[in-house]
Amino acid sequence: VLSPLEKEKHLAAAAALRWVRDGMLIGLGTGSTAAYFITELGAAVRAGQLRVQATATSLASETLAREAGIPLVEPRRGLRFDLTVDGADEIDSQLRLVKGGGGALLREKVIATASDYLLIIADSSKAVPQLGRFPLPLEVVPFALPWVMDATAALGGAPVLRRDKHNPAQLAHSDQGNLLVDCHFEQLTEPEQLAGQLQAIPGVVDHGLFLGLARAALVAHGEQVLVLRA
Ligand code: A5P
Repeated sequence: VLSPLEKEKHLAAAAALRWVRDGMLIGLGTGSTAAYFITELGAAVRAGQLRVQATATSLASETLAREAGIPLVEPRRGLRFDLTVDGADEIDSQLRLVKGGGGALLREKVIATASDYLLIIADSSKAVPQLGRFPLPLEVVPFALPWVMDATAALGGAPVLRRDKHNPAQLAHSDQGNLLVDCHFEQLTEPEQLAGQLQAIPGVVDHGLFLGLARAALVAHGEQVLVLRA
């Protein structure tokens, strides 16, 4: 039996199938909500209802997509996605996002930026009046870590180095082999300004603020799916 939040994730993911058209090149997100979408999309492909090709934003989603029977394409020059469907950790009313709770923020941003349409799918807990309660993830080159900790602390981010959730004795690593740092700002009142400051720190590969990227969000509330547009 699914919990109410799991049901909402599944409902939002299933609703996203209506955005998919035959022949599309699709970006596949990461996380539990995106996983529901990958499973649903794979079922439609296997049933012969849709022909699509896809690229995944993480090794985990790639494995899932392969198991689901979705044909995958490798990154190459000129590749653009018609649609990318991904989850989020927080969504505000302007469809600004915090992402990276699953550690895949870099590939997620690469694919989102190479997409004509980024559709976010989420349960009701992700819609927030103001970003910042969820700690903001950064992907960090290991050598630079001590100075990235200093610089983010100076910005008020109370940085915490992420540990492996299955084995807390070890550090968490991204698919690129980099480290993940979660920054606890009280509130993100100026996300655009903060994004620039974080990106300017040497060794920060990328941060989890996705600004001006999402075109629409499907947010499930109980049995209903609300469509939010930027
Ligand atoms: C992955 O890196 C994140 O950006 C995910 O999109 C986010 O953590 C959402 O995950 P759930 O769908 O599991 O809540």
